[in-house]
Amino acid sequence: MRTHHTSDVLQLLLLLCGSTVIATAQTFRYVVHDQDHIPASVHKERRERVLASLPNNTAAVVFSADVRNRQNDVDYEYRQNSDMLYLTGIPTPTATLVLIPKGVTIGQRTVREVVFIRARSQDREQWEGVSMGPREVMEMHGIDTAIVIDSMQKFLDSLVTSIDTLLVTSLPTKSLTVPLAGKNVYANSEIRKWAKEHNPNLVVSQRLSGLVAFREVKDTAELRLMQRAIDISIEGHYAMMRGARPGMKEYELEALMEYHFKRGGAEDVGYASIVGSGYNACILHYSTNRRPTVNGDLVLADCGAEYHGYTADITRTFPMNGKFSREQRLLYDVVLEAQDSGIAASRVGESFREPHNAAKRVIARRLMELGVITKLEQLGKYFMHGTSHYLGLDVHDPGSYGPLKANSVITVEPGIYIPEGSDCDRKWWNIGIRIEDDILITPNGPVNMSGKLVRTADEIEAIVGNAP
Ligand code: GLY
Ligand code: MN
Ligand code: MN
Repeated sequence: MRTHHTSDVLQLLLLLCGSTVIATAQTFRYVVHDQDHIPASVHKERRERVLASLPNNTAAVVFSADVRNRQNDVDYEYRQNSDMLYLTGIPTPTATLVLIPKGVTIGQRTVREVVFIRARSQDREQWEGVSMGPREVMEMHGIDTAIVIDSMQKFLDSLVTSIDTLLVTSLPTKSLTVPLAGKNVYANSEIRKWAKEHNPNLVVSQRLSGLVAFREVKDTAELRLMQRAIDISIEGHYAMMRGARPGMKEYELEALMEYHFKRGGAEDVGYASIVGSGYNACILHYSTNRRPTVNGDLVLADCGAEYHGYTADITRTFPMNGKFSREQRLLYDVVLEAQDSGIAASRVGESFREPHNAAKRVIARRLMELGVITKLEQLGKYFMHGTSHYLGLDVHDPGSYGPLKANSVITVEPGIYIPEGSDCDRKWWNIGIRIEDDILITPNGPVNMSGKLVRTADEIEAIVGNAP
């Protein structure tokens, strides 16, 4: 459906009639159907923690993600910025959160948090869908003060004259290439210019380290949503493996997966589904997913559902015909053993690198034994990525990458990838294997949040192709 700018036409007509446009009081109802969102009180506590972590003479600004144009008058489906989701839960574009520890006076009140957001418009919502305005933000998200975005620039111009540091967690659009003009415009340097004009001593920084530390350690509310995203993803992985038949296209497998994501209530995928068969399994972030599979292929499926902003990140590798070849199984068991030792090393206080080091030791030893490599330095050709990252609102979630903390969630995902033409016996070629699970770090040891999904070669063989 193409956008038809009714409002322009209407405004023009009204102007011609000598009238002014009066905002109609009528609006669509803003209704939230899911009852399991994180409550406003939890977001409030998170903002309070961030406020308490900020020095008095600072302010923090958190922007919404931009609406991104796909082509012509079609935009990509909107995904809110993760910091904004973490601190407010507001899903609507244009919302900007400003946190001011020492407070500012607005009207008669001193407030420490303000959200600026576009006013609602019946006309726009008729075409683009219902969104939040200042009232919804205050009533539904417990924000102290929400104001229409038109007054934001003046507010910020004035705010920065009274503080010494402005923290900007991330920018909606970092840079813009202007075609033909041969120019790149960098938001960061424009912001610094603006800051200098208003307060030559202002420090502008993106290091809101308190927020990164808070996001690293998950609270009960987010662990609940992460488990939901993971459980939905497990359903998808089972459906894909059960429904697999040699000859299917990669996208047919992807469809089986994502059908279950949507069916389980996931709003989206947390990242483009990776369904790589044969040599495509050797490409780490392959997501074209068009190749017809053939008998004998391994399929590497790295797919995670996103539920209320939180994503799973799970990889299983399985033989399309339900039976690992000898070489496939040998390498599969190496990755499995590496993953087991990586998971065992995922303990409170261990260095973030320890799961990786543990997995790497196993893969190095076993690949030497199998004769795939002859020297340790060759390992990086076949295992070229880290084993872990934090997981949460982002698939690669922010965190300190310091010693592992209780209630953080990391992935453990070793892999072996041997593309055709590699410098080893050709019997190993076109085998790509990754096994990835989502591990909750606890004082009592690692908890595999995706542990309900089959993982060993035998378990996988028993499942593949066995659709009821
Ligand atoms: N799915 C991307 C990753 O595993 O890091
Ligand atoms: Mn991952
Ligand atoms: Mn992954």
